[in-house]
This record gives sequence, C-alpha cells and structure tokens, in this order.
Amino acid sequence: MSSSSSSLIMIAIILLVNLIHVIGGENIVLEEGYTVTTVIDGDKLNVNPYAIFSLYGSSSDLIILDSVKSTLYTVSFSDSQVSEIKKLSGNANGDAGYKDGDLGSAEFNKPKNFAVDKKNNIYIADKGNHVIRKISKSGVTTIAGGNIRKTGKADGPAQNASFSDDFELAFDSQRCALLISDHGNRLIRQLDLKAEDCADTSSGPVLGSTVAWSIGVVVTCLIGFIVGFAVRPYVLPYAGSFRPTSGQRDMEAFPNPSGETSSDLLLRHQKRNC
Ligand SMILES: *[C@@H]1O[C@H](CO)[C@@H](O)[C@H](O)[C@H]1NC(C)=O
Repeated sequence: MSSSSSSLIMIAIILLVNLIHVIGGENIVLEEGYTVTTVIDGDKLNVNPYAIFSLYGSSSDLIILDSVKSTLYTVSFSDSQVSEIKKLSGNANGDAGYKDGDLGSAEFNKPKNFAVDKKNNIYIADKGNHVIRKISKSGVTTIAGGNIRKTGKADGPAQNASFSDDFELAFDSQRCALLISDHGNRLIRQLDLKAEDCADTSSGPVLGSTVAWSIGVVVTCLIGFIVGFAVRPYVLPYAGSFRPTSGQRDMEAFPNPSGETSSDLLLRHQKRNC
C-alpha cells in the first residue's frame, strides 16, 4: 500500500470518528488553560450577586447588583483581596420601592440587571417599576418609562415609553445607546444616550500629534511620580481622617469607596495614565 493511500485511509478514519461524535451529540471540545477562583463569597458579605460589572478604566472596583434586596454595592480590592464592600444605592433591607434623588435614599424594585457607559454612569433595568434608572454623580434619575410606569411596549420619547416586566440592558458604545432585550415583549429596543456618555476616553489622538502627546505624558508621569513619592510621608499620618472626594477619581457615578490617601490616589492615577 502506498504511503499516500494509507494517509488517505487515516484521514477517512479521523473524519469517521468525528462524525460519530457529532451524531452521538458528543462534539465537546475541552479547551485547557483557564482557571476559576472565588473572588467574593456572597454568604460572608451578606450579598446575593445577581449581576456584576467591572468599572471602565480606572480601577479594580466592581459593581454588584443584589436583585432580591433591590440594592447595588461597590466592591473594592487591594492586592486582589476584597478590601471593602459598600452600599452604592438601594435600601439594602429587601424592601422594594421607587425613589429617585441622592444615592443614599434612592430605592429600586427588583432590578434585573444593569449596564455601564464609558463614564461609569450606571443604567438599571428596574423591571419592578417598569422603568430605566440612571445613577450618575448627580444622583439617581429615571430616564425612561417615568410617565407610564406600567407594562407595555410603546416606543417614542423615553419618558413615555413602556417596557415589559422582564427586560435587560446592554451598553453599545458604537451606537451610543442602551440596547434593551425586552424579553416579555420579545423585542430588541434601543434607547439613544447623550453623546457625552459615549466619549471614548481610551482612544488617543490621531497620528502626528501622537509623538508630542507621548512626550508630554512621559514628562507628566515623571513629575507625578516624584511629587507622589515626595508628599507621601506627609499625607500618610492623616490617612485616617482624609477622605478624597469622588471628583478626584476618573469615574462619574460612584463615590470613592476605598480608604486611600491622596498620595496613593495620586500614584495610582499616575500609574493608570502612564
Ligand atoms: C407623554 O406623557 C405625558 C404625560 O402622560 C403627556 O402629557 C404627553 O403628551 C406625552 N407625550 C407624548 C409625545 O406622547
């Protein structure tokens, strides 16, 4: 038997084996090289995670939604350990409600999930109230369904739109929109956001100005590190009382949950931008 015909037979056998696997419903490909670890134990922290999102850009902080409690939490990390979990918004005692305004007193009704835009504004599929809520640095607002507040499938001006009692949100930066998977109505819908919510902060300037820009960044980084290390010993003694305001971080929606000193923040800020 020639070597080419024996390799043809080999190929035929391999195809046949694969075909048998497919027919038998066993076409499972186990790709190796991934690892699973537990990051947060909800039982220990008294949080039932229903949806989670990692904030854009700035840090390792996570947002967790506990649907049962109608409450959102922020989780911050240091050295990949959970360092702090804090209520972001919602009343945390399990009572559903409907209240806009400041983060501390706002209430939600069994929200299903949420989406986050490029500025870390948070959009909540508040399915119990049949509305879409927004958490920004100025507090909690209703951006869709506020005039109706009951199930339906009306499109149009967002406050007059209505939704089913089961829908989810996804942020689409390309469209600058929230995409709504309206399960109850079996519709995909789109809520156009404001341009400022979709500004892509990660894309650099166009070629040509890039070199000058890079040099500028390097110089700024160097100065930043030097200043950061230099002021560190003077700031550390006040670490207990100093609480940086949210404006010092690169995120809109949520207040500083970590107990960092200003020099830590400065150093971290420099590391991020360098
Ligand atoms: C939206 O709803 C409000 C309150 O029900 C109503 O006054 C207004 O005419 C509606 N607007 C449109 C465009 O349907």
